[in-house]
Amino acid sequence: MSEPKKLFIKTYGCQMNVYDSERMVEALGGNGYVQVDTPDQADMVLLNTCHIREKAAEKVYSELGRLRPLKEANPNLKIGVAGCVAQAEGEEIMSRMPLVDLVVGPQAYHRLPAMEKAVAEGRRAVDTDFPEEDKFDTLNERPRATRGPTAFLTVQEGCDKFCAFCVVPYTRGAEVSRPVERIVKEARDLVQAGVREITLLGQNVNAYHGHDRGLAGLIWDLADIDGLDRIRFTTSHPNDMDDALIDAFGDCSKLMPFLHLPVQSGSDKILKAMNRKHTRDDYLRLIDRIRAKRPDLMLSSDFIVGFPGETDQDHQDTLQLIRDVTFGQAFSFKYSSRPGTPAAERPQLPEDIKTERLYELQALLTQQQKAAQDGMVGREVEVLFEKKGRMPGQVVGKSGFLHAVYVQGPESMIGQIARVRIVESGPNSLGGVLV
Ligand code: 5AD
Ligand code: SF4
Repeated sequence: MSEPKKLFIKTYGCQMNVYDSERMVEALGGNGYVQVDTPDQADMVLLNTCHIREKAAEKVYSELGRLRPLKEANPNLKIGVAGCVAQAEGEEIMSRMPLVDLVVGPQAYHRLPAMEKAVAEGRRAVDTDFPEEDKFDTLNERPRATRGPTAFLTVQEGCDKFCAFCVVPYTRGAEVSRPVERIVKEARDLVQAGVREITLLGQNVNAYHGHDRGLAGLIWDLADIDGLDRIRFTTSHPNDMDDALIDAFGDCSKLMPFLHLPVQSGSDKILKAMNRKHTRDDYLRLIDRIRAKRPDLMLSSDFIVGFPGETDQDHQDTLQLIRDVTFGQAFSFKYSSRPGTPAAERPQLPEDIKTERLYELQALLTQQQKAAQDGMVGREVEVLFEKKGRMPGQVVGKSGFLHAVYVQGPESMIGQIARVRIVESGPNSLGGVLV
């Protein structure tokens, strides 16, 4: 047998890219590649990129610059760009960056093995189509290698919402749901390989329409799989939280009590300008309804500060919404103008105002995150252990609320779910003892 070729893949951005990278590694496995941890000895380097904010996109070009000496030292090294920057700037990358051999958009990954062959023969290959066929159906089945206890599973891709700031509808295309049978089969295979927790992924995961009862229907089908103990999903849009999904938080014991439900802003004027199609009040009432089903639900959100037209009053409204809801964690960003999106055409706010507002918002969110964590001390939670901790004799896992929890315990706990009493709250994790 010939030596396997070495593939180094670097993943930027969201969890869907993490999932896609795994699938690309598996697909290129069929072309004789094994994954390696550094680019130095690699035969192929793939960058799986993110285009959501300007800074994320810039990273690709600087990383390509850093790869130049490697390519000069080894002219046989192949360099590929995948993901949303590939989709948005494919042709530009090819003309600006002669060292790039391959550009593949997120909807064309199943064509990667054929593209790799072309590249191995010395050609350059670009594919940023949105083909009819479903890439996941056409990709190789996932190999049954042993895996860690948690996994991502993409069930839906793309977005039809067209928020005025967002590139996703352009880079990932229209909403497409995978068929239930495929997802259930993939989930069963994952469970056989040792997975106990699956996070269902989609840019608009709760708009999943592959099941006649929507995402809730899919969750209930997955809950029937023996050995699958925990189900999560991300990312959701408030307007797609239907009754069945809200009920599932109360009724489905395998659905974990954590929900990432981005609101972006607390000002009705800005929500309208963002084309979010919901008001601040809609969001607050929705949260009340979900909490009525699951009172201890841990909530998370995304926020954008400094959107065009945002006044200090609008910003105060966002801070007030945060106080009204109370989040267990959240992500917040300065608005970043993205070419081709409606908001990019509008007058932009000065950078220093954005920075100031971001600090203020993050201070409040950090305070809430700390309070949520501190509130866990003294409680008993179930933890799914995922790996060894930093200290000897320590293992770390996640509670249902997605808090990282460290305990003293044997390595054999990894892959197990155990009851833990929380005894301390650190900056980003909890400490507990097995009960
Ligand atoms: N600028 C800043 N943040 C953005 N997001 C999406 N587009 C932009 C942008 N142009 C944020 C939103 C979204 C998260 C994934 O990224 O908050 O929910
Ligand atoms: Fe982007 Fe999410 Fe809005 Fe879709 S719903 S346009 S992915 S922010």
